[in-house]
Amino acid sequence: MGNETVAVDLGTKKHSYKIEIGHETLSACGVWAAKNLPENTKKIAIISNGKIFRLYGEKVQSSLEASGYEVCVWLMKDGEKYKNLRSLESALKFFSENNLSRTDAVVALGGGVVGDLAGFAAAVFQRGIAFLQVPTTFLAMIDSSVGGKTAVNSEFGKNLIGAFHQPNGVLIDVSTLKTLPKRELIAGFCEAVKQGAIADEKLFNKTAEFLRDFSLSEFKSLYGNEKFVSSLQKLIAAQVGFKAEIVQQDEQESSERDDGKSRKILNFGHTLGHALEKVTDYKYFKHGEAVGYGILFASELSKTLDIFDENELNLLNDVMHRVGELPKTDNIDLDEVIKAFKYDKKTIGKSLQWILLEGIGKPKITTDENIPNSAILKTLKKVLHSRN
Ligand SMILES: NC(=O)c1ccc[n+]([C@@H]2O[C@H](COP(=O)([O-])OP(=O)(O)OC[C@H]3O[C@@H](n4cnc5c(N)ncnc54)[C@H](O)[C@@H]3O)[C@@H](O)[C@H]2O)c1
Ligand SMILES: [Zn+2]
Repeated sequence: MGNETVAVDLGTKKHSYKIEIGHETLSACGVWAAKNLPENTKKIAIISNGKIFRLYGEKVQSSLEASGYEVCVWLMKDGEKYKNLRSLESALKFFSENNLSRTDAVVALGGGVVGDLAGFAAAVFQRGIAFLQVPTTFLAMIDSSVGGKTAVNSEFGKNLIGAFHQPNGVLIDVSTLKTLPKRELIAGFCEAVKQGAIADEKLFNKTAEFLRDFSLSEFKSLYGNEKFVSSLQKLIAAQVGFKAEIVQQDEQESSERDDGKSRKILNFGHTLGHALEKVTDYKYFKHGEAVGYGILFASELSKTLDIFDENELNLLNDVMHRVGELPKTDNIDLDEVIKAFKYDKKTIGKSLQWILLEGIGKPKITTDENIPNSAILKTLKKVLHSRN
């Protein structure tokens, strides 16, 4: 169906699924759903938001109906702040009012917010029903739609109420990125650079070359170029392949592991990323943009600690530069950032986890006791206050 297929093999058939990556494939999503859902599925609840549904909803709905499904649609409000327990309850109420049964399914059509909420609703409704991911942001395509983490935010913190619930399939139609705002694209590419940096030189170079050959500012106008469409699909397939590889051997992010293949390495750039989001009340940065600073910081810190080579640092900084401009950080109060580190949910026991780099593709998980405060402060100043 797509031009590229990535298999996520989690051992049992129930847990394994395929990610199809193609161009203009939404209108065939009914056939795809039928291939991936159990034969006795009759009803499908689409979860999306108004903006995305106006753009792509009809295509998806009519294709599912043409394949014989009875479809109902629940639209959540747009935004991270609606990824909460109240929306979850409304979604579950909607499933119930529409008499969804254990053999029915949920389709998440949207970015990571829709995907996380829809996935969690599917995970808990009648103790778990099938769900399909149709991601429409670059971040959701390469990151959040793959791996089975689902969650909502609450007063206890972000993503702290959730479940592991693997989708039955993921359909990536790259043409949906034509309508994605540029800042969202940049934020998603920051996560792509993150994955490249911790994966290996191959994924890092593939990401760097894509950003060299194609400008994110001209994204929409490039779709007429076959090479662009095929490179985009290949890049997404490679990114997703890496995430799948990590998830396959550490599906539930085992807390004891701290080796270079632990699922925790996906948090590269996220210790500072989360702190920046927190000190700006989640209003100033897109998540991926904050992670962009996190990448610059963690790699600079690795260099300061003499474990990361200067040439590789320059290479990584160049690639981040190609991604595009990030919001200015000169006004961020560094003391507040340091305070925020303490609240990071990755804190295990009393120590804060840092993912550093010993080279491209060589992440190293360490705790803050191993890093002098002076190195952290000096690097924060350099990355947040001298760069802009
Ligand atoms: N489950 C995981 O493993 C995982 C991993 C990373 C991030 N996340 C979560 O993902 C969320 C962020 O996801 P996101 O970056 O996709 O943000 P998002 O879902 O908020 O989408 C960003 C914006 O783009 C709009 N949009 C989506 N697709 C569009 C399209 N094709 N055209 C035009 N507009 C479109 C959305 O309506 C929204 O306004 C966070 O809640 C984060 O916690 C989860
Ligand atoms: Zn992230």
